[in-house]
Amino acid sequence: MQTILVTGGCGFIGSNFIRLQLETQPDQKIINLDKLTYAGNPENLADIDSDARYAFKHGDICDREFVESIFSENSVDAVVNFAAESHVDRSILDSGPFIQTNIVGTQILLDAARSADVPRYLQVSTDEVYGSLGAEGFFTEDTPLAPNSPYSASKTAADLLVRAYCHTFEFPGIITRCSNNYGPYQFPEKLIPLFVSNLMSDQQVPVYGKGENVRDWIHVLDHCRGIDAALRNGRLGEVYNFGGNCELQNIQLTKLLLEVLDKPESLIRYVSDRPGHDLRYAIDCSKSERELGWRPQVEFRDGLQQTIDWYLSNAVWIERIKSGAYLKFYEEQYGARMGA
Ligand code: NAD
Ligand code: TYD
Repeated sequence: MQTILVTGGCGFIGSNFIRLQLETQPDQKIINLDKLTYAGNPENLADIDSDARYAFKHGDICDREFVESIFSENSVDAVVNFAAESHVDRSILDSGPFIQTNIVGTQILLDAARSADVPRYLQVSTDEVYGSLGAEGFFTEDTPLAPNSPYSASKTAADLLVRAYCHTFEFPGIITRCSNNYGPYQFPEKLIPLFVSNLMSDQQVPVYGKGENVRDWIHVLDHCRGIDAALRNGRLGEVYNFGGNCELQNIQLTKLLLEVLDKPESLIRYVSDRPGHDLRYAIDCSKSERELGWRPQVEFRDGLQQTIDWYLSNAVWIERIKSGAYLKFYEEQYGARMGA
């Protein structure tokens, strides 16, 4: 039985990844190392908690001793590092936790994996490391790195560490870079779950600037299938891009959400723009298609409808999250902008 160490498995993408792995790889064990920050929610994996192939370790990837103990107590065949501070707006308010977890945490994981001779390490990264596009063109794996936010700068630093470990130590690292994910279990600070949950209770939705910024949306399970393909069939030392071939301006997406939820456009509230807001992300994933045989399978309209249905039938999940620490962030982020 193979054992994969997943970090950040209680977050949005990590929890979807673990569930998919347990469904599709019956002979595999998963160890999930998660700090349970505001974004880590053990409820996301409540349905698989008692599966004998799954073990949860509560801890911090920045805690060297703890991370090393996991490698010494288990024979780990692969690491998939999802653990990160992941929200751009929070990185603008305070970049400290981003530097700590995304950079220092990655370095500690790399060192521990290297000492334990782990045969494969996959770093889950983002298209945001490439910076921003104008109206034309796509990010390829060769696009120069030009991060614009503290979040993307910290992710870029981590990617460069993985690259350097591969180059210097022949470390068996692979990097994947994906565009904006949507799907179930996404923390309601990101555009789709924030807007859906606000609209569910007839609250306004805060569109930054004129809503002209473009994102390329991919269903989280397509991303998870890409990570799986890169982990099993990717070439060591390589980077693989994933995207959904689904570019939308934020305002187009917002109007689509209003349409599906049958809400009036008066609920759109234009607020001041995000500082340094990247204009457009778009991904060329032909390398992943060619080398990994991967391509996105979920059609956006279907995936969006399923995602909205999931949030509608999991109102309690949202309710529990939209309290306490999250409310405080929401007030700090939107209080002045919304004139609340
Ligand atoms: P998320 O914020 O939902 O989850 C992050 C998880 O990491 C949480 O469970 C949290 O508790 C855990 N974590 C944070 N700091 C930790 C630490 N120091 N030690 C251990 N665990 C810690 O994030 P997500 O959206 O699921 O993103 C997962 C990864 O995918 C991130 O690396 C992110 O940069 C990358 N990514 C995300 C997207 C996207 O659209 N969400 C797109 C491309 C890449
Ligand atoms: P987000 O979900 O934060 O992802 P990212 O910044 O990593 O792309 O935001 C997606 C887009 O939506 C981005 O252009 C910023 C915009 N946005 C808003 O207009 N209003 C909001 O309240 C949020 C959270 C995002």
